[in-house]
This record gives sequence, C-alpha cells and structure tokens, in this order.
Amino acid sequence: MTTNRERVAEIMEKAFSECEKIAPEDLQFSYKGIFYPITLSSPETLEALKSFEARSDDVILIGYPKTGTNWLDEIVRELESSDAKYTEEEMKERINVEKELQMFPRLEFGDPGKFERMKKLPSRRIIVTHLAPHFLPQSFFQGKAKILVLARNPKDTAVSYYHFNNNLPMLPSFSSWDEYFAAFMNGRLGWGSYFDHLVEWNKRIDNERIMMISYEELKENQVEGMKKIASFFGFSLTEEDFPRIAKKTSFQAMKEKSKETHGKLGNILFRKGVVGNWRDYFSKAQNEEMDRKFHDCLSGTKLAARMKYDVYCKA
Ligand code: A3P
Repeated sequence: MTTNRERVAEIMEKAFSECEKIAPEDLQFSYKGIFYPITLSSPETLEALKSFEARSDDVILIGYPKTGTNWLDEIVRELESSDAKYTEEEMKERINVEKELQMFPRLEFGDPGKFERMKKLPSRRIIVTHLAPHFLPQSFFQGKAKILVLARNPKDTAVSYYHFNNNLPMLPSFSSWDEYFAAFMNGRLGWGSYFDHLVEWNKRIDNERIMMISYEELKENQVEGMKKIASFFGFSLTEEDFPRIAKKTSFQAMKEKSKETHGKLGNILFRKGVVGNWRDYFSKAQNEEMDRKFHDCLSGTKLAARMKYDVYCKA
C-alpha cells in the first residue's frame, strides 16, 4: 500500500483521464457478481489477490466505500509512524520503496503483478481495502495479522456514496436520488451490497484478531477511538500524541491538504464529514424501508450498537 501521496494523486489523475475515453456502461466490470471500476482494478487482479500472503504484523484496514476509509487510513498511518518513530530518512526510504514498487492505495487496485511486488515492502505494511471477507485471501484469516473493520450508518453511507457516484467520473452516475436509492438497497453498486458486507463482517466480530470501530464513535470522541485502535494494534504512544494526531486528521485539516494528498479526487472525497446528512435526502418511505432492511440484517448486533443506529438513524 502507499503512504506516497504523490503517487495516489498520480493514480487518480490517470484514472480520471482514462475514463474520459470509456462509455458509461463500460466503466465497471463484474467479478463474481460484483461491480468494480475498470480504471482502477481488473478481474485478473482480483483473481491474483487470492494467493496474497498476509504477514503477522500487517495492519489491515477494511471499510465499505464511503464509510470513512481515507480518514481511518490517515489516522492509522499517523498512529503507526508515531509508534515506530521512523526518522525522516527512514520515512523517505519507505516512500521511495513504495514508489519503486508502484504501489496502489487499495489492495484491490492496480495490476495483478503488484501482489508479488508487495512481498518486497518493509514491515509494517498498512493494507486498506473495501472488500467483504469472502473476497479476501485466506491468509488474512489464517495467520496472525490484525484486521480493523470500519462501519458507518447506512443512511449517511448511502448519501455519501450517491455524491461519489455522481461526481467521480470512474463510477456510473444516477439521474436521481430515488433511482440511486433503489440501487443502494439492492446492492447494485461498486463493491456490492452494504448489507452483505456488514453481515459477513459481523459474523467475525468475536474473533480476537478483528476489531470493529464506527465512523460515529470516531466523530464523537476521536481521541478515545484512536486509543482503542492503538491498543488493538499494540502501538505505544504518549498522551500528547493523540490530540496532536486528532488535529492533524480533522476533516478541515485533511480537506485543506487534499489537493496535495488526493489530487483531483480531493474535492470530491472531502464533502461534509458529518453524521446525519441523510435527513436532507431520505423520504419518509425510504427511511422506513432502510429501517426495515437494517432491522432484518443487523438489528441487535454488536455492530449496530457500535454505529448507534438507534440514536443517529432515528427519524
Ligand atoms: P461525506 O461524503 O458524508 O462527507 P471514504 O474515505 O470511505 O471514501 O469515505 C468518505 C467519507 O468520509 C466522506 O463523507 C468524507 O467527507 C468523510 N471524511 C473524510 N475525511 C474525514 C475526516 N477527517 N473526518 C470526518 N469525515 C471524513
């Protein structure tokens, strides 16, 4: 994976320009029944991923699209590097290696050969993906690597993904919120169904090598959330490190740096960064439909409690 921001911006610029030549109906490919953007991945890459070897000290971050994965990625990179205390030289070297090995910001992005190249990355590798557990390599679950799963309430996730689909040229757009809402509820979007994703992760919630955290709890108290993350991965930081990292990774701070860190993607990605924006979009009927679906799929689970569905998704 890459801490090399220049490279992230470069990959995004390339994908933006490539999709100008692609017809809207060809922007996605389907792999095992799920859509992915053709400018960022391929069936061959997803096939090659199966044999990827996780290391026991890999730091693995998972989140369905739009649950705040870029935020978590930045937070964990800050926590990890504060624990490792890399010198400026070491940090430069790590970034250089990633550049030479042509890394990508998500596990499922890039060419099939990248998994072989990833063997040459120095530990600790921070690996970020939007994939559900049944699409991940066996080695993620057989070894000792720790996995942090990020969840966000489905209503805000849906709104965030709506804007992302309509503003990111690599994804298909929708002519109305209503049309999009139906696609979200049926899982006909990139990376598949939000619900399938969380139902599958929820089955693994009691595994001691897997921890769940929610966007909502990070918004409520980022320092507390970061302390839980640090303790899970065994990172040792000082009391002063936490507020410093919270400030550096605030929505405002990340948005201001976004051109440098995410290129053209920045303006699209850092949209609102709040809990509750769904209230401006959902009709009464859509709200009731979502409540029913959530109830059927996840009600009463530890995961629902983590995202405080009953508090943040109440009409
Ligand atoms: P909104 O579209 O609701 O604003 P992902 O990184 O998984 O694509 O998720 C993107 C969502 O995370 C966006 O939500 C974005 O604004 C939000 N986000 C990004 N950085 C954030 C931060 N530092 N604090 C809070 N939310 C953040």
